Amino acid sequence: MNILEIISKKRDAKELSKEEIEYFVKEYVAGNITDYQASALIMAIYINGMNSQETTDLTLAMAYSGDVLDLSRFGTNVVDKHSTGGVGDKVSIILLPIIASMGIPVAKMSGRGLGFTGGTVDKLESIPGYRTKLEVDEFISNVEKIGISMIGQTMNLAPADKKIYELRDAISCVDNIPLIASSIMSKKIASGANKIVLDITVGKGAFMQTREEANKLAEKMIEIGKIANKEVECVITSMDQPLGFAVGNSLEVIEAINFLKGDMPEDLKQVVLELGSKMIKLAGKGDNLEENKQKMLEKIQSGEAFNKFKEMVKQQGGDISYLDDTTKFEKSQYITAVVAENTGVVQEIDAKEIGQLACYLGAGRTSKEENIDPTVGIILNKKVGDTVEEQDFLAYICANSQEKLKVAEKRILEIFVIK
Ligand code: URA
Repeated sequence: MNILEIISKKRDAKELSKEEIEYFVKEYVAGNITDYQASALIMAIYINGMNSQETTDLTLAMAYSGDVLDLSRFGTNVVDKHSTGGVGDKVSIILLPIIASMGIPVAKMSGRGLGFTGGTVDKLESIPGYRTKLEVDEFISNVEKIGISMIGQTMNLAPADKKIYELRDAISCVDNIPLIASSIMSKKIASGANKIVLDITVGKGAFMQTREEANKLAEKMIEIGKIANKEVECVITSMDQPLGFAVGNSLEVIEAINFLKGDMPEDLKQVVLELGSKMIKLAGKGDNLEENKQKMLEKIQSGEAFNKFKEMVKQQGGDISYLDDTTKFEKSQYITAVVAENTGVVQEIDAKEIGQLACYLGAGRTSKEENIDPTVGIILNKKVGDTVEEQDFLAYICANSQEKLKVAEKRILEIFVIK
């Protein structure tokens, strides 16, 4: 078998065998297939697709490309959560401490930013000292000690997905059902939970543009879950405008901290409660979703959810004084308000455009080697449906370059559709 035959087969829209998929995954992880060959194959998959069997084979090959965690010591109801990605999506940082504060173990492996969407790992790393790179033993022992750990994909868990994920990001091959389904499910299988809640975002700022596509992706992941013996629940959530107000790494962490302290933007609150109520049900801690939502709100009001977040940050080396006083977070050099030029109601704030603008300011990557700037981004001051008067502040731009700031100011006025 050789990689050139596999690339040409997919280039010619033929079905790949299990052996060919396993060969590609194994040899790519081992460094025997170059990035340009892997890019060619991924692009061919992106263009010509994969059927159900190929998608399952790719998922399992990636899931078993490294270690597979055994979380059975935490019982049979370990619940995980994953989102297909969005703009301003800081849900994991809020939701998982709430869930852990209810005594449900959380062992979460998250990703970095992908395309124009942000990543939980990049966001958490904006907390000074917070370590996202833990070995398996420390990860598990943190969950044993305090009930929660959130880390990056740095251990030997689904290393094939890590490599392919970074490659897809750098060659513009992200928004594709077989690639997304296999990426997410391989990580979920490798990280050991037996119940999984998936947030499938749909809309302008999501990889799935229509409900039909989102449903297809949901079906695919549920089907893979069945084969891997995992119970999967999918929630489809809207991602037309950014979620919450902040877009950018430390800016989103600050919004997440404020949420846990009780300041909850409505759209973000709905998504957190929707996903959380399903996680609690899957964990066997309550069948009534409305009651589950109420219990989550109580954990915020009592301060237990915020304390759990602090405990986790401390356990992973983060400086918790930043959580008590968010003004300590380093700020970008320039922070400017963009002022409305006309009166009306906000009709649209395209989440993808905002995500791309945040990336342009430095909040995301355009190549896999690039570093992100945690301080830059956009804070919306108005959301869809809000009334705007001339001279009202639409958004704040946080930038570290005057030139980029100017471009962003102009762009914000185009992105906000006010009528
Ligand atoms: N999240 C992932 O982990 N993988 C994808 O492909 C998309 C979102």
